[in-house]
Amino acid sequence: MNALWSNWSPVRRIFMALAVFLALLLLMACGLLFREIIATDLTATEATNTPAKGLNGAKNNVITQNDLQVQRGAYLAKVGNCAACHTARGGAAFSGGKAISTPFGTVYTSNITPDAATGIGKWSADAFYRAMNEGRSADGHLLTPAFPYPNYTHITRADSDDLYSYFMHGVTPVAQANKAHDLPFPFNTQFALAFWRTLFFEKGDAVADSASKNTINTIAAKAINTKATGDAENLKQQVKTADSDIQRGAYLVRGLGHCSACHAERNALGASVNNQFSDQLLGGALMPMRDWYASSLVDPSEAGSAHLPRQDVVALLKTGIAPSASMLGPMAEVVAGSTQFWTDADLNATAAYLQSLPQVSAPINEKSPTKSTSSDKSKPVLFDKGAELFTQHCATCHGEQGQGMRVEGNVALPALAGNRAVKLHNTTNLVRIVLAGGYAPSTAGNPSPFGMPPFAHVLNDEAIAAVTTYIRHAWGNQADSVTATDVVRQRRGVMQ
Ligand code: HEC
Ligand code: HEC
Ligand code: HEC
Repeated sequence: MNALWSNWSPVRRIFMALAVFLALLLLMACGLLFREIIATDLTATEATNTPAKGLNGAKNNVITQNDLQVQRGAYLAKVGNCAACHTARGGAAFSGGKAISTPFGTVYTSNITPDAATGIGKWSADAFYRAMNEGRSADGHLLTPAFPYPNYTHITRADSDDLYSYFMHGVTPVAQANKAHDLPFPFNTQFALAFWRTLFFEKGDAVADSASKNTINTIAAKAINTKATGDAENLKQQVKTADSDIQRGAYLVRGLGHCSACHAERNALGASVNNQFSDQLLGGALMPMRDWYASSLVDPSEAGSAHLPRQDVVALLKTGIAPSASMLGPMAEVVAGSTQFWTDADLNATAAYLQSLPQVSAPINEKSPTKSTSSDKSKPVLFDKGAELFTQHCATCHGEQGQGMRVEGNVALPALAGNRAVKLHNTTNLVRIVLAGGYAPSTAGNPSPFGMPPFAHVLNDEAIAAVTTYIRHAWGNQADSVTATDVVRQRRGVMQ
């Protein structure tokens, strides 16, 4: 070997040393990925629920002890909105099979009913917690992050056990085999997931249990350290807000509530990322595969709530409607399936947390580089035509002055004057709601919401541009004009 080495020319030596070095590096990387793929924390027996452990086998003795736990779990399933993904339209509750399209292909949700053969009936509580906290199935294989475990990872062990009880005892078992995902190579491999996780996934605090409340504290410590806005009104509110509220809110928003799954931008590999202005993972994002913009929850000109009255933030999440805002599209679904069921205490905590976040305004041209930065404050060309169309088509509902409408004191129709959804730099939602119409979610607080009719078949592209431009400039609103080209692009999506 030595002789061989000394026979080589210096260039060859350098080259060979480099090759060996690279090979070692590759080996190490493969080793790391393999370690990620192979689960070592739970053995196959630990991952399954043996009758001795209680839940399924010894159902009768544990049911009373579990009753409360099942109820708490049912509530947490609402908080996490599990049904939104795991209950397919027309399908049995939690039996999965719902298609979720992602930029990488279509994934199908799993059967999470307690059916022993096709669902999670054989899972142990440990395996369930590992799925939530680590994104691994009971057999140890890695799950796709279309299952929002990057958020759920923050769940406490106690909350996970409550959820587990609910899925074991409060949900009807349904025999329905899981559908294979429709992902092209390499996205269908465990290697790809291991790679993704190495780069982007950070497991929530493993020692979190209800006693130590570790997860809550570490999350909240961040939230509390960063709460700082100069706004006097906001400071007053913060003083009144118990830190424990903000901690609870942080736990809900970042964990089970998985708000960042939509409200944070995704990078090219589909991981939620901060934008350059805010490190809260809530900076606003165009939702991949769906033509909706989930507005920034930290930008006061979008859906930042620091300067809003606390009761308006709570009302939006509870009823879907507030004096000058309403929840639309995917957000209306979130309210309908989840936040309307949150307790007042949890909604208040969530609002407290959202209001405690540092507010940032991105410069307009950073957010929509294709838009002109001049926010044409003088009357734009389409203004008069838009005003005419508004009187003709919109004023009966939204009011001649865009003031909205109340029925028996409750907000029935959102005001358009001062409405942030109307003024948003990104006009995706605005054009979309006018083209396709929509309903605010039906909630206990707003049981039969008025509908916004679709105008796609009533108004052409230029007319829609005119009327939206008008409402972006009338009654003190100030925002860029909408052009017919903006409408054309969206009309294609709506008509599909
Ligand atoms: C945004 C959609 C979405 C939501 C919300 C969601 N899930 Fe899932 N879940 C998925 C997808 C997709 C999978 C399949 C992942 C895979 O197979 O790689 C999955 C898989 C799972 C699994 C693993 C099942 C198995 O057989 O490996 C469990 C357990 C689970 N989800 C529980 C929950 C619970 C509990 C909630 C509510 C707190 C929830 N999920 C909410 C999308 C979702
Ligand atoms: C499935 C995707 C999705 C999830 C999950 C989601 N949002 Fe949204 N959200 C949206 C979209 C899209 C909009 C913009 C449409 C609108 O204004 O209603 C929005 C808008 C909002 C608004 C502003 C409404 C307005 O007009 O002022 C608030 C506040 C909000 N979301 C809070 C939350 C909170 C809190 C959570 C977590 C509990 C959450 N969202 C989770 C998609 C989502
Ligand atoms: C029949 C009554 C009705 C008419 C007519 C109507 N709207 Fe609406 N509009 C509604 C309702 C109800 C909502 C709330 C929908 C929701 O929350 O999903 C709404 C919501 C909106 C929103 C979103 C507001 C927010 O807070 O997110 C905009 C923008 C809007 N309408 C513009 C218009 C324009 C422009 C016209 C005329 C071209 C019009 N509407 C005509 C009932 C109406």
